[in-house]
Amino acid sequence: MNVGIIGSGFIGGTLARLLSTAGHTVRVSNSRGPHTIDPDVFSTGAIAVTKEEALVGADVVILSIPFVRIPDLKALLEGLPEDSVIIDTSNYIPARDDRLDAIENGQPDSVWASEQVGRPLAKAWNTIYSASLNEAGRPAGDPERIAVPVAADRDHDRVVTMALVEDSGFDAYYAGSLAESWKQQCGTPCYCTEVTLESLPQALADADLARSRKRQDLFFSVYNERFGNVGTNPSRNYIVQLSKLIYA
Ligand SMILES: NC(=O)c1ccc[n+]([C@@H]2O[C@H](COP(=O)([O-])OP(=O)(O)OC[C@H]3O[C@@H](n4cnc5c(N)ncnc54)[C@H](OP(=O)(O)O)[C@@H]3O)[C@@H](O)[C@H]2O)c1
Repeated sequence: MNVGIIGSGFIGGTLARLLSTAGHTVRVSNSRGPHTIDPDVFSTGAIAVTKEEALVGADVVILSIPFVRIPDLKALLEGLPEDSVIIDTSNYIPARDDRLDAIENGQPDSVWASEQVGRPLAKAWNTIYSASLNEAGRPAGDPERIAVPVAADRDHDRVVTMALVEDSGFDAYYAGSLAESWKQQCGTPCYCTEVTLESLPQALADADLARSRKRQDLFFSVYNERFGNVGTNPSRNYIVQLSKLIYA
C-alpha cells in the first residue's frame, strides 16, 4: 500500500520504519519540512516529503501529531478522495494539552478529531507506548504478541487499518465504532499495558470513562513528579509497569 504519514516523531517515525520494513511504500512528513526529519526514520526505505506530498497517491494517511494540532490538518485533508483511509494515533491528555470542553463532557477523542478535520477516521496504535511499538513487535502466532485495538465506522477503514496493525508486528482487534473508542483512550485498562489478544476484550469491557480520567490524572502526577512536564521518553519498562499499576 501507499502510506502517507503526517508526523515523524516517536510514533510516526517508528511506524514509517515498521511499515516500510513490511513492504509498504511510505512517505513521511512533519511540520518543519523533510530536511528536519531524523535520518533514522528512513533507515528501512521510507521517504521524507512535505505533508502535501505525503498525501499524493496515498491509500492510507496516518495522523501522528499532537492531539490539539489535529484541526490544523483540515484544509490539507480536504483534497483526499472520499474513500481514503485516515488513521488517527492521537490521545487527548489534559495534563499536557489545552483542556477541551467537548472531551471533558464525554466526547470520545477521535470523534472530536474526526469532526475537526471533517473526515471519517479510524483509530489505532494510540494504546501502544512508543518504545513498545519500536521494540516489542512479534510475528503473527507468537503467544506473547501484544494486541492493538482498532476503532472504525466504515468496513474498508476497519479492514485496511487492521491489516496495517498486523504488518507493524501486533495483533489487531476490532474494538467497535469510533463512538465506542473511549474504551481505548488514555487511562483505560488497555492503555500502554501491553495486553495480548486473549486479554484485550476483557480490558475493553472493564473500561470506565469517569475512572479513566481520574487514573490518567494519577498517572501524570507520578510521571511529572519524576520527569517534570517536559518532552522526555522514559523506558518501556517504567511506562508499562506504571500503566499496569494505575490503569489495569
Ligand atoms: N509517544 C507515545 O508513546 C505515544 C503513544 C501512542 C500514541 N501517541 C500519540 O501519537 C501522536 C504523536 O505522538 P509522538 O509521541 O510521536 O509525538 P512527537 O514525537 O512529539 O511528534 C509529533 C510530530 O508531529 C509533527 N507535527 C506537529 N504539528 C504538525 C502539523 N500541524 N502538521 C504536520 N506535522 C505536525 C511534528 O513535526 P515537527 O517536529 O516538525 O513540529 C512531529 O514530527 C500524539 O497524538 C500522541 O498522543 C503517542
